[in-house]
Amino acid sequence: MKVLGISMGRKNERSDIYCKQVLKGAEAEGADVQFINTVAMNIGQCRGCGACSKAPDGKIKCVLKDDYLTLEEMVLDADGIVIAAPVYSVGIVGQLKNFLDRFGAAHDRASLLEEQKQRKAEGRPLLDERYFKDRYCSYVAVGGAWTEDWTCMGLPMMHLFSCSQAMKVVGQINANDQGRKTSPFLDEPMMNDMFAMGQNLAKNIGVPYEETTWFGREGTCPVCHLDLLMVNGTNQVTCPVCGIHGHMELDGEKLKVVFPEEEKKRARNTIPGLYEHHNEIGEMMRICIPKLQEHKEFLAEKRKEYAAYKPVWSD
Ligand SMILES: Cc1cc2nc3c(=O)[nH]c(=O)nc-3n(C[C@H](O)[C@H](O)[C@H](O)COP(=O)(O)O)c2cc1C
Repeated sequence: MKVLGISMGRKNERSDIYCKQVLKGAEAEGADVQFINTVAMNIGQCRGCGACSKAPDGKIKCVLKDDYLTLEEMVLDADGIVIAAPVYSVGIVGQLKNFLDRFGAAHDRASLLEEQKQRKAEGRPLLDERYFKDRYCSYVAVGGAWTEDWTCMGLPMMHLFSCSQAMKVVGQINANDQGRKTSPFLDEPMMNDMFAMGQNLAKNIGVPYEETTWFGREGTCPVCHLDLLMVNGTNQVTCPVCGIHGHMELDGEKLKVVFPEEEKKRARNTIPGLYEHHNEIGEMMRICIPKLQEHKEFLAEKRKEYAAYKPVWSD
């Protein structure tokens, strides 16, 4: 069992140390571990060209030839992954967003399952089997601030890495308050937690998702275990990370949020949840394509007009 540790922080600083501590825990449970620091890697922004969805020889290929390709291969080879990344501007670092924009849409498991069925039926080269493998993840968000609101979008955005491949997240730690704590080496309880989270990650590899054990705070949402909620003025709420709906119940000062079982089963990081989005995209195309045909000349005219509006910089 291979566990990959990815740190997106400064070399030999906090994210590196926490990531390595999680790996040490995984190693103690017999995992074959690998560590990478990506800070100097060149991982550019997705250009939205759509070329990655073609995969003529069965391998998804991004047209941008940068270090994304190395990291993508490492992720596909792993059974377990821990990402430790700093919180910048209340959310994830730009490099992680760049990586997951390119990895996520291209590796959507529902779309790939459908593509594989079609390839089998047509006798075309099959997609790489690694796209259909169950994987397990843990996250560490590292923030300087002691106020949790300054790190509140770190862990939620990290979940976007695992969702398109329906990887199972089995642990997470919001390692905020790093400024006052000064160094991970002065925070023994946190280092112990990191080690234990690594053990838990390794122990879960190969376990059916519904039987996995969770490491970390339970949180409000029963799927992502986070506390971020969308509200709409009623007692109905949505977890923005998982896209599942629940309702709030007030008991005096205490707030309970109930998410029905059927909602949990359609969370964004599950196969049914991914199929919902796959079908949504299919439906969009059915509506969009006839509109494009109907307004063909008008749209061509408008595109010409707006293309002539010159930018101050162009490649
Ligand atoms: C550009 C920048 C933005 C930051 N924004 C936040 C923030 O919004 N919230 C926070 O808690 N810490 C913030 N920090 C502090 C880092 O999260 C903290 O220094 C962390 O330890 C960096 O990770 P590293 O030590 O692994 O490099 C920011 C740091 C930088 C450089």
